[in-house]
Amino acid sequence: MLTLGARTAFAADLHSALSQRPRSISPKYFYDEIGSGLFEQICELPEYYPTRTELALLNRHGAEMAECMGPGAQLIEYGAGALRKVRPLLDHLVRPQAFVPVDISGPHLLAACAALARDYPHLHIAPLVADFTQAHELPTRTAPGRRVGFFPGSSIGNFAPAEVQSFLGMAAQELRGGGLLIGIDLIKDPAVLHAAYNDAAGVTAAFNLNLLARARRELGLQFDPEGFIHSAFYNAPLQRIEMHLLSRRAQVLHLGGEAYEFAAGETLHTENSCKYSVAGFQTVAARAGFAAGPVWTDENGWFALLWLQAP
Ligand SMILES: C[S@@+](CC[C@H](N)C(=O)[O-])C[C@H]1O[C@@H](n2cnc3c(N)ncnc32)[C@H](O)[C@@H]1O
Repeated sequence: MLTLGARTAFAADLHSALSQRPRSISPKYFYDEIGSGLFEQICELPEYYPTRTELALLNRHGAEMAECMGPGAQLIEYGAGALRKVRPLLDHLVRPQAFVPVDISGPHLLAACAALARDYPHLHIAPLVADFTQAHELPTRTAPGRRVGFFPGSSIGNFAPAEVQSFLGMAAQELRGGGLLIGIDLIKDPAVLHAAYNDAAGVTAAFNLNLLARARRELGLQFDPEGFIHSAFYNAPLQRIEMHLLSRRAQVLHLGGEAYEFAAGETLHTENSCKYSVAGFQTVAARAGFAAGPVWTDENGWFALLWLQAP
């Protein structure tokens, strides 16, 4: 359930998205309880290689990654989701002072924390339900321990270049004297990417369409659910997967007394998932003051986890 402030922000962002051309909205609005559940299903899909590949890297190299983080650290995870990927790190971290998972999807995060607490009873877990792109205060701000960050899932790929710099700038401040372990999805055969975002079971389509369904549930958006389809494709010049909701015909959406016309084929752009090279991302991170450290990649060269030393 959204707070009044969050509901107002969603309504304002959706009005603004529907008023502009081209139309686009932040992917953070995918993640209500239904959207978070659909994302968990995506992680299990045969076509969706990122979760499997990143988890295998964490399982294989968790000890080395934990060594970079050092003993007695406070671990902050951005966009923590189901908290599956942090476990191989926690299994190797020496005397972590606290674990702070940050996520916008509150009930989903709190349920995942309860499950983690059962398996790691001595860990101090201090969840923060917040938008990590906005100013936020860590619940452990006065606690001891060097801060280290973990940002898996290639979620950094959802950001536009200016947003990447702004997020990394914030993280460099928050993690000053520590470091950041970040997962990036690497540039690869577009056929592999296309399959990953157009799964045969249609789960990614349901995840994408949930944004409008959520707006109907929470904001009273009036639209015909049959009027939109999922569209995902690789934009090669910009090296990113784009996800859109494509209007199948001319139609009018109603939101809070406003009417928004869609022509046939017009889209609402819902997500980018940018693909990087390791060197390219290290260059971007250096602009925020992060120094390149060890890198772990799979044998296909599809995904990478990078250790970045904070200033
Ligand atoms: C692609 S999922 C990744 C989940 C998990 N870290 C993983 O690797 O499987 C993105 C996660 O980030 C959260 N999220 C997205 N935008 C956010 C924002 N602006 N602030 C906080 N959390 C956000 C979502 O709720 C979701 O749990």
